[in-house]
Amino acid sequence: MKKAEYIWMDGEFVSWDEAKVHILTHTLHYGNGVFEGTRAYMTDKGLAIFRLKEHTKRLLDSAKITMIKPNFNQEELEKAQIEILRKNHFESNVYIRPIIYLGYGVMGLYHVNAPVHTAIAAWEWGSYLGDEGLKNGIRVKISSFVRSPVKSTMGKAKAVANYLNSQMAKFEALECGYEEALLLDEEGFIAEGSGECFFIVRDKVLITPPNDNSLESITQKTVLELAKSMGIEIERRRITRDEVYIADEAFFTGTAAEVTPIREVDARVIGDGKRGEITKKLQDAYFDVVHGRDKKYEHYLTYV
Ligand SMILES: Cc1ncc(COP(=O)(O)O)c(C=O)c1O
Repeated sequence: MKKAEYIWMDGEFVSWDEAKVHILTHTLHYGNGVFEGTRAYMTDKGLAIFRLKEHTKRLLDSAKITMIKPNFNQEELEKAQIEILRKNHFESNVYIRPIIYLGYGVMGLYHVNAPVHTAIAAWEWGSYLGDEGLKNGIRVKISSFVRSPVKSTMGKAKAVANYLNSQMAKFEALECGYEEALLLDEEGFIAEGSGECFFIVRDKVLITPPNDNSLESITQKTVLELAKSMGIEIERRRITRDEVYIADEAFFTGTAAEVTPIREVDARVIGDGKRGEITKKLQDAYFDVVHGRDKKYEHYLTYV
């Protein structure tokens, strides 16, 4: 991990190595904290944060769901994310990690009296699933872990605790020699990746499941908007694992994963075993948008 100079903590710039918390930090023990993953890309006008408003809104929505009273509002958080990018002198694309967490002072499961803190870290980060994966596709395993059911987990929140399941699925996939996990829902339909949403293409139709069992993904929404503007036919419906095996193309979307083609699922080669034609079109279009090369979508960028 490439260190930056400063991390924003409750309104102060703290040097990277001093950005610490107490061992009795409530979130560390009980998992109630909410976070975001946002990217800023180098454009010809400098760094620009992609869909800052939407990511910040989701952070506050996540806090609402998990009954955390944020100590900063939307405007303050947006400003803080811009400031932390200005304060650090980044030279390439950046990942931004805001987190609202419960601090030191109260133990036990009743969390409401725990002090609320917010921190924003940012660091230079390349592609999450590798440059090779972006170009040639990755190998994916359908996980033995089911995506946490909506009956007991509030999946609309990007909550710390929700990621234990994702971690176990990711670990299992890597241990088995794959690069990413694809989780099913309780009924056996495709839910999402460990940190991505999922798409297939069949007979030129782009198909992605509804967000019943996945995070309301900002990248997925962007890709759907791009597909629509290109005249690609879209279906939002459930997908079974056998339909994945016979898809012409498959790919993941996520802030970290961007648009990552999938070349193999459970030892079944997807399509030609390489990045598909529609996948490439959408991937190129996505990178044009985030890098500010497509002026039509400049309203999604916040220049730093
Ligand atoms: C579980 C999960 N699903 C999907 C996504 C993709 O969401 P987004 O495109 O908003 O980054 C993420 C990443 O935040 C995630 O963690």
